[in-house]
Amino acid sequence: MSDILSEINKRKTFAIISHPDAGKTTLTEKFLLFGGAIQTAGAVKSNKIKKGATSDFMEIERQRGISVATSVMTFEYKGKLVNILDTPGHKDFAEDTYRTLTAVDSVILVVDSVKGVETQTERLMEVCRMRKTPVIVFVNKLDRDGQDPFSLMDEIESKLDIQLRPLSWPINRGPFFKGVYNLYDHSLNLFRPSTQTLTDNIITIKDINDPELDKQLGKDVNQLRDDIELIDGVYGEFDPKEYLTGDIAPVFFGSAINNFGIQELLDTFIRIAPTPRPRNTETREIQPDENKFSGFIFKIHANIDPNHRNRIAFLRICSGKFERNKFYTHTRIQKNLRFSTPVTFLASDKSIIDEAFPGDVIGLYDTGNFKIGDTLTEGEILQFTGIPSFSPEIFKELVNKDPMKTKQLDKGIQQLTDEGVAQLFTMTSNNTKIIGTVGELQFDVIQYRLLGEYGASCAFKPIQFHKAVWITSKNPLKLKEFIRTKSNYMAVDKDEKPVFLATSEWILNLTKQDYPEIEFHTTSEF
Ligand code: G4P
Repeated sequence: MSDILSEINKRKTFAIISHPDAGKTTLTEKFLLFGGAIQTAGAVKSNKIKKGATSDFMEIERQRGISVATSVMTFEYKGKLVNILDTPGHKDFAEDTYRTLTAVDSVILVVDSVKGVETQTERLMEVCRMRKTPVIVFVNKLDRDGQDPFSLMDEIESKLDIQLRPLSWPINRGPFFKGVYNLYDHSLNLFRPSTQTLTDNIITIKDINDPELDKQLGKDVNQLRDDIELIDGVYGEFDPKEYLTGDIAPVFFGSAINNFGIQELLDTFIRIAPTPRPRNTETREIQPDENKFSGFIFKIHANIDPNHRNRIAFLRICSGKFERNKFYTHTRIQKNLRFSTPVTFLASDKSIIDEAFPGDVIGLYDTGNFKIGDTLTEGEILQFTGIPSFSPEIFKELVNKDPMKTKQLDKGIQQLTDEGVAQLFTMTSNNTKIIGTVGELQFDVIQYRLLGEYGASCAFKPIQFHKAVWITSKNPLKLKEFIRTKSNYMAVDKDEKPVFLATSEWILNLTKQDYPEIEFHTTSEF
């Protein structure tokens, strides 16, 4: 039992999130360099889909290859075991990112100091807020002439609806950037632009009035002292407890490409970031140190080689110890399964592991048993919650172009939607299949993969739906009546839950007014 506890206390599982180009890949790489998991810069490939490549299938394949290889990156740093879960860069894969966020215990959010908060970041933060995930903000690219740090703080607070607490503060920026003052440790980190040197140039000082600062900074010290006085007045003391409850996000400044501020960020992360947290199920809260194993599937990846139909299901371990070759209960289908070749994803090698602990993510080869959200336990019938689907943004009708291959098409679409490539809604009136996605790219992916992996060809017909909302009611008769009256707009999702497909926001609002006894939900979990 105690060995489980010490394994739990060692682990920090998190994701780096950002708008594309803010510096997520660069930061990830620097962390891995610090952790000794890689030796050279350039080893981590960006999982971005290149601009203008939306119909380039090679690019989609390249992306799939990279995203398996870099799904989970693990390294040890100062006695802790750090698991970084990768998130896709392209906005069309945003759903994948939302799901990955369900498997982490904290997040580092990268903001570009020049561009400030960008739209994609807003959505990602919404998910973190929903889950009360602790967030550290890293403001990147201080070597460029970015925005004034105070107005940047205001922008982040108002657009992302979070309360910040700067723990470091920049001295100038762009060509005049001198470094950052660390408010937490009272140290001065002087900027030496270098992509080669890892360690920061840190000078320890007593406090903001230390004459060493005058010596190092010259006349810039006055501005720094004014800024720090203002920060202490406006933001108050930093309380790590408020960070852990998701109420306050500490902020660091730096330049990932120049290795600047990374060590400081990593050292603080190691100190304050949460170890594996308890998780909710439909019946009870699961503590990580319970001696029985439990975990859930948050991502499924098809094999890149179409000749091998098996898939890799990503399991986040929530409690107890996972062991190779032991039987576990797949609670949705109530079947016992055992896994002879569970893998970890160290670097680009997949290696078989014998055991894993809470906070770890392992890959299980799957022949079609899993869908996203599935729970594995040592027998107790549980279902982890907090892995909701969100309403897609684009809806299209699936058209079968080859009636001889109907079976293949049905199977393919079933499996692709199990993997979470897109959402499937079946119209209640005529069984028409509607595919919902967050981006156009997924339709290309589906068409391409259905043909390549299942031999089925399909087309997509545009359809005027705006949003999918899950409906419930305390009054079963009213619910039945609603479903009957709105039958042309009613569908069921993959779990047979009733979904109302609204043609516009206006219609949705009107419908809500007309049917006060119906509850409308924007996510599949309520
Ligand atoms: P992403 O994963 O969030 O999409 O961003 P990524 O790390 O790929 O970084 C996007 C671009 O920003 C890269 O340039 C990267 O070199 C640059 N970058 C990262 N950190 C800093 C920084 O601190 N300062 C400056 N000035 N630039 C930074 P690129 O030209 O798109 O790619 P590359 O050819 O340099 O790899």
